[in-house]
Amino acid sequence: MRALVVSDLHSNAEAMRAVMARVRRKKFDHIFCLGDFVGYGAQPNQILDTMRTFKGAKKVYIRGNHDRVAAGLDEAEGFNAAAKHAALWTREHLSAPNRRFLRDLPLGPVMRDEVQLCHGSPQDEDEYVFNGHHAAGVFASTDARFILYGHTHMPVIFALDENGYVEGAAIRAEATLRLSEGFRYLINPGSVGQPRDRNPAASFAIFDSKALTIQFFRVPYDIPKAQASILAAGLPRILADRLALGT
Ligand SMILES: [Fe+2]
Repeated sequence: MRALVVSDLHSNAEAMRAVMARVRRKKFDHIFCLGDFVGYGAQPNQILDTMRTFKGAKKVYIRGNHDRVAAGLDEAEGFNAAAKHAALWTREHLSAPNRRFLRDLPLGPVMRDEVQLCHGSPQDEDEYVFNGHHAAGVFASTDARFILYGHTHMPVIFALDENGYVEGAAIRAEATLRLSEGFRYLINPGSVGQPRDRNPAASFAIFDSKALTIQFFRVPYDIPKAQASILAAGLPRILADRLALGT
């Protein structure tokens, strides 16, 4: 299996367009999305139209916490004011097919071959997995050899070796990593639409279970255009400002 792995698109169609352009000539047989298609940004229908009608690879999609609220399945309790504003705005602006698509997205975890997909963690859609301690808990909670997750908007890889030791590494630039037989991995591709590692470029990955590689990518995109759409929609300015900062 060779999968394009995206997460936390957050209604940023400009970022997603740059990702699609970057992978146009790359081969992959699956596309995984780890949730948060919408929220924060002002282009939910563009993102959902693109993802919903994507052809050329098998789609495995799960929902994120922002999708849950935008779909009307939950209220925005626990969201900060700007996130809540954007989630409720999204709810009002979804096309009928996109609202249905969002409402019907499965709650993770979802297994595909040896790969488990989740938004926050396999046990909790809303959990933030930031460090090795959190990662050890995730490895203990599942038998999956590979676990892909999102939610933190930080590209990172954790490995569990044969002796039960967990090591983690933040991914600070584009990189191709070779994975070891006998190890288990917990991997976050970072966020397409709202990176938070102080690198504003869209983040994603290509995972190859046969070659045992994970490639992390960063692509610059038209940030001013994404910001303009946020301001034109009347969404909080901080949601535009943070895109340029990568925070
Ligand atoms: Fe998110």
